[in-house]
Amino acid sequence: MPDRIRLDGRTAVVTGAAGVIGAATARLLAARGARIVAIDRKRDEAAVKALPASAEALAITADVTDEDEVEGYVRAAVDRFGSIDAFFNNAGIEGEVKPITQYSLETFRKVIDVNLVGVFLGLKHVLPVMLKQDKGSIINTASIAGLFGSPNIAVYSASKHGVIGLTKSAAWEYTGTGVRINCVCPGMIDSRMLSTIIEARGRHAGINAPMQQDKIVERIPARRLGQADEVAAIVAFLASDDASYVSGAAYTVDGGRTAA
Ligand SMILES: NC(=O)c1ccc[n+]([C@@H]2O[C@H](COP(=O)([O-])OP(=O)(O)OC[C@H]3O[C@@H](n4cnc5c(N)ncnc54)[C@H](O)[C@@H]3O)[C@@H](O)[C@H]2O)c1
Repeated sequence: MPDRIRLDGRTAVVTGAAGVIGAATARLLAARGARIVAIDRKRDEAAVKALPASAEALAITADVTDEDEVEGYVRAAVDRFGSIDAFFNNAGIEGEVKPITQYSLETFRKVIDVNLVGVFLGLKHVLPVMLKQDKGSIINTASIAGLFGSPNIAVYSASKHGVIGLTKSAAWEYTGTGVRINCVCPGMIDSRMLSTIIEARGRHAGINAPMQQDKIVERIPARRLGQADEVAAIVAFLASDDASYVSGAAYTVDGGRTAA
């Protein structure tokens, strides 16, 4: 009986691969046997160098908001490895951390462009490859901020609500073709992005960052921040045949935060 969690011979494309969650996920997918196509707007070979020595990998610098560049990375992945079996549609930005009245329209548009248009373009260009194969798994990165309102990151929250809507609609359109589409909703993950949000929220509340972090952790039933590896584990599960009957789901990885 083959191990249904393994990804041997499969190709996984990961966007935002130079970031904390993207890099941890690329490492785990490679450790489970996948070939990795690592996409980021930053030229950063570190994510690929951190993969297991045995891993076959390709790093591509591309902007997920640019349709030509998205088409380009999809083509490059297929040219090099022949298929795209798993797609972690993950690149995202937090934008400004400010109340709506102080938020700039320029950043509003930028956050929607990366977090929502980027995810849409990834779906638009990876789906035809997977439909031709009659097989594939797409995992978009949303957030628990896509499940409820979040002060001072309203635009980020709106973009992540949109990612969940895109995921569910895409799952309706394509599940049954052999392609599954899900999203992950990470909670408070120990990362550069969370530190930026905590520091700015603390400034608005007139308290220091450690106090702001304590306030946040108090509201997490697990009583700690999450680790990127813990998000990667769910993505790797969703990418695998073990998740063969899972589609249209928004998986929280949040230490119970949304249950509290
Ligand atoms: N860190 C958290 O606590 C947390 C919680 C919930 C959801 N998320 C989501 O997880 C995803 C990854 O977050 P992270 O913590 O690893 O952040 P990160 O900032 O470490 O990584 C994001 C990566 O995306 C890349 N990127 C940004 N814009 C891009 C573009 N236009 N084209 C290509 N690449 C681009 C960045 O260069 C960066 O390497 C994001 O979608 C984020 O919203 C993070």
